[in-house]
Amino acid sequence: MQKDFSPLVGVCINSSKVKKLNQSLERGSINYLLEANKKLNTNLYFFSLVDINFEEDKVRGYIYDETCKKWEERFSPLPEVLYKKGGVKKKEIGEFNSLINSINKNNIKLINPMRGFNKWELHKHFQKNKKISPHLEKTVLFLNPEDLQEMIYEEDSIYLKAVRGRCGKNLMKIKKLDKGFLSTFFRKQPKKIPAKSFEELLDDIDRFFGGSPIIVQRTIDLLNIDNKLVDLRAEVHRNYNNELEIVGIPVRIGEAESPITQHSKSYTFDNFFRNTIGLSDTQINELYMVVENLLYEVYKSVEDYYGNCGEIGIDIGVDKNLQVKLIECNSQPTKISLKDAYGEEAVKKGYEKILEYACFLASPKTI
Ligand SMILES: Nc1ncnc2c1ncn2[C@@H]1O[C@H](COP(=O)(O)OP(=O)(O)O)[C@@H](O)[C@H]1O
Ligand SMILES: [Mg+2]
Repeated sequence: MQKDFSPLVGVCINSSKVKKLNQSLERGSINYLLEANKKLNTNLYFFSLVDINFEEDKVRGYIYDETCKKWEERFSPLPEVLYKKGGVKKKEIGEFNSLINSINKNNIKLINPMRGFNKWELHKHFQKNKKISPHLEKTVLFLNPEDLQEMIYEEDSIYLKAVRGRCGKNLMKIKKLDKGFLSTFFRKQPKKIPAKSFEELLDDIDRFFGGSPIIVQRTIDLLNIDNKLVDLRAEVHRNYNNELEIVGIPVRIGEAESPITQHSKSYTFDNFFRNTIGLSDTQINELYMVVENLLYEVYKSVEDYYGNCGEIGIDIGVDKNLQVKLIECNSQPTKISLKDAYGEEAVKKGYEKILEYACFLASPKTI
């Protein structure tokens, strides 16, 4: 790749991570970004929300000196391109809002939108897209008990999810029994709560979600192996030329009895569908093409709603008839399944794409 400029790229990480920069040997995404930067050669610095001086538009940045193998502290201008990693602490919400103002005022380019995705907002947006809507499962916003009642009486089971949930933590599967209901969720391991009546179920839901907005979704009849659910987590990126690239489509197999596939073992798309499911080459290619087209459509549609994204982790379900369903999209995806299935090289490639896209965003022709 030929480029004659080195954009100032700032990675905003949690303040607790900044404190640990010197100590931690295993720095995960920070290490991957430093590694990627050896190829991309951007002016890369790390900082946290509390390191910004909003009056002077300056940042206390942390730069890794490869020669001395040491972190250096240096005051830098606000970045040209900003990559936000991790969530925002409650006590830093003021700084977060000020940073959003600075981004707008200074026309700072964002690799991802500053706030994560909202499952309900995106669902409504996707419904308007004719290429995506056939791949959506019926979903409603849970406003009144009737919203849940109607759906659960039509189905054997449904999913409830917090609109801003992540990592399978704010999600419950509810199964209708002959008498009552059984809710399952995952907290270190699959857990169950029986409810004798609909009223009891509502209390359990209230306690579990603590009043945060939730959606009700029909259950996708996912493929399963030995009572373990199977789904796909595609990692899609933009590159130096602003093109979309699929870095990998790991297949995740959850724990037995779990309503989610996180905390699982992952396999490459080809390996799983060839060796575990026994599809032919033609069937694998056909399935891949459907998934690939859906991924590109979904990615572009997310960007229409939220603005530029450098990476999206897209969860896809494949049902027992090999029909492809969209589960959800993740901003700032962890690349755990990618690493598990496709190895560390794929993760490295993902982080290279992040910096490639930073270069695209900052390139004179883009501005
Ligand atoms: N409608 C559904 N039908 C079947 N399985 C689902 C459904 N929704 C979610 N899941 C399972 O739960 C997992 C987590 O759900 P997801 O919507 O991705 O929420 P999170 O943001 O917590 O990852 C999915 O990866 C999938 O395995
Ligand atoms: Mg998910």
